[in-house]
Amino acid sequence: MSTLLTGIGELVTNDPAHGAPVPLGGEAPGGGVAASGEGAGRLLGVVRDAAVVVDGGRVVWTGAAADAPAADESRDLAGRAVVPGFVDSHAHLVFAGDRAAEFEARMTGRPYTAGGIRTTVAATRAASDDELRTGARRLVDEMRRQGTTTVEIKSGYGLDVRQEARALRIAHELTPETTFLGAHVVPPGADPAEYVDLVVGDMLAACAPHARWVDVFCERGAFDADAARRVLRAGAAAGLAPRIHANQLGHGPGIEVACEVGAASADHCTFASDDDLRNLADAGVVATLLPSIEFSTRQPYPDARRFLEAGVTVAIATDCNPGSGFSSSMPFALALAVREMRMSPAEALRAATSGGAAALRRDDVGWLGAGSRADLAVLDAPSYLHLAYRPGVPLVRETMLGGTWV
Ligand code: NIG
Ligand code: FE
Repeated sequence: MSTLLTGIGELVTNDPAHGAPVPLGGEAPGGGVAASGEGAGRLLGVVRDAAVVVDGGRVVWTGAAADAPAADESRDLAGRAVVPGFVDSHAHLVFAGDRAAEFEARMTGRPYTAGGIRTTVAATRAASDDELRTGARRLVDEMRRQGTTTVEIKSGYGLDVRQEARALRIAHELTPETTFLGAHVVPPGADPAEYVDLVVGDMLAACAPHARWVDVFCERGAFDADAARRVLRAGAAAGLAPRIHANQLGHGPGIEVACEVGAASADHCTFASDDDLRNLADAGVVATLLPSIEFSTRQPYPDARRFLEAGVTVAIATDCNPGSGFSSSMPFALALAVREMRMSPAEALRAATSGGAAALRRDDVGWLGAGSRADLAVLDAPSYLHLAYRPGVPLVRETMLGGTWV
């Protein structure tokens, strides 16, 4: 059964067939293309007065509404804008409890530290499978309502063999993009060296069947560069592709490690030297920036312009978690990226869609064109520009996931 979506005032495709750079890793080097106007339209492969034909969960055609082929049924979107569903490539959704009190303390002057993770570990260990499942499902639903169609979910609040495997089993019920983060922090009472042995040994063996990715929090107060290398290499040997929490709380070795092991993405990158930027560009490692975390920790924002000008592919994600930032909203992250990280609205949308897809090495999402998944968001606005122009306003009217409205 084919469906024609027509009357689309502005369609963002990210499709080379409509002038956009190639979906994977092909963000314009120099980063100057996308400032505004026509350049922005080209970066996003924008089609005006457009239509989309969907069949069997995939897009089969995009173009001008006047040229659209016939379909079994049709729906007029009355001039609204349509964008590819957001690809949120970094989230921690399997946990219990919250840390609102820690947030309050931060807003009155306390700094964020890795140690707060242990509070959530205690609550998570005490929760039933159903409590964890219900909590994670509720957050995924919240994301869907805000236009997110692909989400990555990490473990990391269990920190023993049984608990980490349980978190990944639950995450895997919700997404294929699951990440083993046994190396989030050293759990209370454990010896750091023995804990790394456990992570790369029994824990990895129990978790690998439920995970696609391996991650490590490489930071002061969490894991150093040697431990990070060891975890990522062991994960890779078990068939998991590496990604990393890098340079979040200070200048550190995380980005270097990411480039050494060929990680798909280095996430946070709040502190990055010029050498780090060159390394990321040369190694083809995506920089996933997480501005909601800077917002919620009162840290300085990274300057995305530096990354773009160095030729780095940039993604934006929420990092939704109960500690450093509890926002599930890609539109919010995108608005912050524009206001605080010197991205143009087009660059930020590109980062929140095809950038996220590159960070997850997916070529079927983050764009709309013949062969892509039919994952899209309909905005109650005439243009994608309104995502950053009207921050905090719930502009996503409907989300389509694999050809089905959700
Ligand atoms: O991405 N940095 C490490 N992990 C999370 C925070 C987890 C927490 O504070 O509970 C992050 O910011
Ligand atoms: Fe994180």
